[in-house]
Amino acid sequence: MSSINYSEKIPNNVNLSEDRTLQRALESWQPDFINWWDDMGPEGSTDASVYLRTAVSVDPQGWAQFGHVKMRDYRWGIFLNPGEANRKIHFGDHMGENVWNDVPGEYRANLRRIIVTQGDTEPASVEQQRHLGLTAPSMYDLRNLFQINVEEGRHLWAMVYLLHKHFGRDGREEADALLQRRSGQEDNPRILQAFNEQTPDWLSFFMFTYFTDRDGKFQLCALAESAFDPLARTTKFMLTEEAHHMFVGESGISRIIQRTCQKMNELRTDDVKKLREAGVIDLPTLQRYLNFHFSVTIDLFGADESSNAATFYSTGLKGRYEEGKRTDDHQLRGQIYKLLSVQNGQLVEKEVPMLNALNEVPRDDYIKDSIAGVDRWNKVIEKAGIPFRLRAPHKAFHRNIGALAGLKVSPEGRVLSEGEWKANVDHWLPSGSDRAFVASLMGRCVEPGKFANWIAPPAMGINRQPMDFEYVRFN
Ligand SMILES: [Fe+2]
Ligand SMILES: [Fe+2]
Repeated sequence: MSSINYSEKIPNNVNLSEDRTLQRALESWQPDFINWWDDMGPEGSTDASVYLRTAVSVDPQGWAQFGHVKMRDYRWGIFLNPGEANRKIHFGDHMGENVWNDVPGEYRANLRRIIVTQGDTEPASVEQQRHLGLTAPSMYDLRNLFQINVEEGRHLWAMVYLLHKHFGRDGREEADALLQRRSGQEDNPRILQAFNEQTPDWLSFFMFTYFTDRDGKFQLCALAESAFDPLARTTKFMLTEEAHHMFVGESGISRIIQRTCQKMNELRTDDVKKLREAGVIDLPTLQRYLNFHFSVTIDLFGADESSNAATFYSTGLKGRYEEGKRTDDHQLRGQIYKLLSVQNGQLVEKEVPMLNALNEVPRDDYIKDSIAGVDRWNKVIEKAGIPFRLRAPHKAFHRNIGALAGLKVSPEGRVLSEGEWKANVDHWLPSGSDRAFVASLMGRCVEPGKFANWIAPPAMGINRQPMDFEYVRFN
């Protein structure tokens, strides 16, 4: 059983004390991490005690222990799901062989790159979200933000452990660099573009945790299939935490919709100006934020055709989403996949070898998964008797990566001229005045049980606590 040893400086279930060199290396990285947290972690949170969930073991009973903690003292640790005896590689060229507990020399560079890219997103999101606490719409929401922040910090630990344990000196250098890059900084930015965008307000935050943390889920699911067993085991445990992040996003948007619909019915209007004057976020603005976050996030899956993606799969480094549940041959040679390309200014389907489309396959899986939540948001609008419906934009809308990059396409999927795009873009993506309006609503509302005017209270408290529970104690 994999209980976590809390008496050690770094809580872990990987017998860290048996590997003194590794332990020392991680213990010397730890103060740098705390310095990074002090500099780039949530602003104004130093003295607050927060009702946080901390993992004390990786089994279902033990990974959710609740109590008030100062975030700086949060027990960031290294937790791997228990190994499966005799686990076999279940896809790619090595299918049927034993999984690896060490990094095979020939895959070292690619594995390191995969781990560094994943690891880089974790501190990046903490940096993107660091000012949000100052404008939290409630104490409940503030607590959820902080919970996500400490867990993203723990995800960084998870990747740094792998770098230190399995990649020697260059692994240690990469671990240091993860604390040096900064989201949005020009001379040393984070690796992926979506993680250099700002998260300036809570509507963006909820969209980000719904859409972009869901990209995280898909990446982690692909890595949880890996032939490199320590990576598979660590990402499996990260996924339990990721579920909460997406919940925060989905329920946050849902509560905004609920409040807006309530106002619409109260005032008997869908007039944007009147609704904005009443201090709620109109549904067309929500749609534009949705369009933005959806399109920026699907870019994260990378180019539609990718020989790297083929290599990562064939060599067993990264599987497909739910690889184990699929019934094909798990090697995919000779199979084809359809993706979109542009011909004479029109979108057309194009057949490519499936192996080269292994960025597009998870992008399409992701789209299905995220649309399910949009449908759930629409149920809230429907229940309020309002004829408006939110929609995920077309896959080719507002893309910046791959064959569709830069193409002007409407949310319905119609290819446009530059002029048509310019004339309509403010209906489709948040404009400067949308962002200014949303910003104008943001103000700190953190008395227990109170909620900002633009968002409804949640259906239930965290860990079944009452609505006016003191989730955050400001000391
Ligand atoms: Fe994460
Ligand atoms: Fe996350």
